[in-house]
Amino acid sequence: MATDLHELLRSLRVWDPENTHLPPFDPATAPAAPLPLFTEWFAAAVAAGQSEPHTMSLATSDESGLPDVRTVMLHGADESGWSFASHAGSRKGRHLAARPYAALGFYWPALGRQVRVRGPVSAAPSEESQGDLHARSTGALAAALTGRQSEVLESLDDLARASESAWERASREPETPVPSWTLYRLRAEEVEFFQGDERRRHVRLRYRREPEGWSRELLWP
Ligand SMILES: Cc1cc2nc3c(=O)[nH]c(=O)nc-3n(C[C@H](O)[C@H](O)[C@H](O)COP(=O)(O)O)c2cc1C
Repeated sequence: MATDLHELLRSLRVWDPENTHLPPFDPATAPAAPLPLFTEWFAAAVAAGQSEPHTMSLATSDESGLPDVRTVMLHGADESGWSFASHAGSRKGRHLAARPYAALGFYWPALGRQVRVRGPVSAAPSEESQGDLHARSTGALAAALTGRQSEVLESLDDLARASESAWERASREPETPVPSWTLYRLRAEEVEFFQGDERRRHVRLRYRREPEGWSRELLWP
């Protein structure tokens, strides 16, 4: 029987008390800069059992300014920015070369929390990108070695062959460089923290980078 999508959608809820704990968030106690709050919320998401809290949506735009989005993994967040890695020749890599500006979106439903980050993106030097890759799993290296990300694939057999040889090489030579693999850093200009509330009185706190430090303001939900 065909699925009735609309019926299914109507049966679903956000902020279902069975799966979600909505912690209070008092923006008056928020730190002066967004990074410590991000770190605190990230640790709380991990502690709450949120699955894959280190995955995020990465939005870019193409040469004409049209948007695109996909999921990537967060590799780090510190004073130099939020980092992620990918192939420079992929669609997102080409977008970032043409328009080095992006937005990140995290959603941690276990706590009803969302974080949005926007800012310019720069590519780390090659040695740093390779170091980051080689510090990760054999699977990560095999995936990077498989290469040709975002190109048209003629058949799954082609992928199976390329992946097989990439796994074999990654296991045999764990230091193999993958020249196109790039660590990118997004330097936040704006970071917004959203705390969901059962009564829909969601709290939104936006930080903006100013010449003299970070400004903070509340937003209507
Ligand atoms: C959970 C998850 C994590 C992912 N992590 C990455 C990643 O860290 N880097 C990456 O290049 N692609 C990652 N991908 C694949 C991307 O979503 C995407 O399919 C790929 O990068 C090609 O995107 P593009 O054509 O826009 O360049 C991940 C996908 C999922 C579902």
